[in-house]
Amino acid sequence: MNIWPLTAEPALSVAGVRLTEIAERFGTPAYVIDEEHVRVRCREYAKAMAPHEVAYAAKAFWCRAMARWIAEEGLSLDVCSGGELAVARAAGFPGDRILLHGNGKTGHELSAALDYGVGRIVVDSHGEVRQLAALTVGAGTRAARTMGDRAVAAPTPGRQKVLIRVTPGVDAHVHRAVTTGVEDQQFGLSIASGAAADVARLIRRQPALELAGVHCHIGSQITGLDGFETAARRLVAFMAGLGGLPELNLGGGHAVPYRPGEDGLDIAAFAQRITGVVEQECAAHAIPVPRLTIEPGRAIVGGAGITLYRVLTVKHGARTFVVVDGGMSDNPRPALYGSRYHIERAGAPAAGGTEPMTVVGRHCEAGDVLVSGAHLPTGIRPGDLLAMPCTGAYHHAMASNYNHLTRPPVIAVRAGQAWPLIRRETQADMLRRDVG
Ligand code: LLP
Repeated sequence: MNIWPLTAEPALSVAGVRLTEIAERFGTPAYVIDEEHVRVRCREYAKAMAPHEVAYAAKAFWCRAMARWIAEEGLSLDVCSGGELAVARAAGFPGDRILLHGNGKTGHELSAALDYGVGRIVVDSHGEVRQLAALTVGAGTRAARTMGDRAVAAPTPGRQKVLIRVTPGVDAHVHRAVTTGVEDQQFGLSIASGAAADVARLIRRQPALELAGVHCHIGSQITGLDGFETAARRLVAFMAGLGGLPELNLGGGHAVPYRPGEDGLDIAAFAQRITGVVEQECAAHAIPVPRLTIEPGRAIVGGAGITLYRVLTVKHGARTFVVVDGGMSDNPRPALYGSRYHIERAGAPAAGGTEPMTVVGRHCEAGDVLVSGAHLPTGIRPGDLLAMPCTGAYHHAMASNYNHLTRPPVIAVRAGQAWPLIRRETQADMLRRDVG
């Protein structure tokens, strides 16, 4: 499968803009994002899943422009924090198309979600149900009072729709740090232990809440369909125990290829198999077929991104180390998950051969290795530009200021144009927070 953005000429240009030109105009390191790629992926997902729902998981990459693209393509939205909700709100993303997630939501976040009219809140504990029920009544009263002050008839506040996040007991066989469907981890309520059914009963006793469905998210970067199928069967059986529910949300986790020869999850095959399984199980349990929701993040935006680095130093020894002007602060994934990447020298192909090299960052840790065994031109030298594909998801989103490096900008490209979505962080930005 292709690992470069849809409009790219590998390592040369994207959306008709040369990578060398982007680096000269905006500096390095820089994240580049192909708007067309994001939009095409949204359309592929919407088409494959229709008439069901696709909600983009904001955690993969988030900013106001992304919110507008997603809204225009008709997707819904999964947010997991007040910060992600604030961006959605700033972009005017429709509240009724938003789902709020999280295993530890603050009271402030729940209130913000109620104030903005978030469509569904995915609850993750007994305590959260009680807190939400109390806030929902409060929100209704507050709204009625405000309207009363303005001498408008107070409306009857609708019930807040909630889903329960359940643990289906499915191991997706991905990295432990992103394995979230098994028992004994911090997400969801166990179906097997009866905790999920207890919370369902608790929700149904709250007049301000409406139990709309169930949700699970079994992990991330999953290539096979078996785990999703097992989870779907278990969730339908659980819903049948509650007499059927209108919504079934199977979360995200769809894989994308990071290196040549790797496979991503086939969305058409996913849609066909999972909708078929859900229909079959619902018929077997004699309950109505729910509306399905899926929440891809990486699969929408991962392949749309390229990171550009400038070579600072080349060190020859037992191995050849190519030191670039970024590292684990703009891409912590190799250090966190052992993730492997492809990297190439950008621009016209060099004359002569390539040899294996280790591309490292400039952070003060031996673990700051971006790519080992990269095939780079023998004559690579300081000032050369490197391009790393498939960096649209969980890169800017997970960037830090480690060693007081400033976070790179995100540059959008489309139809021969390049412009910043998020500007480069400055040292002044960092000093502004240093108030002691
Ligand atoms: N829905 C829920 C409830 C989630 O927790 C997640 C991701 C998603 C959807 C989207 O998953 P995706 O389709 O992007 O795999 N930082 C890690 C990934 C962590 C994903 C956490 N949850 C990485 O860089 O691989």
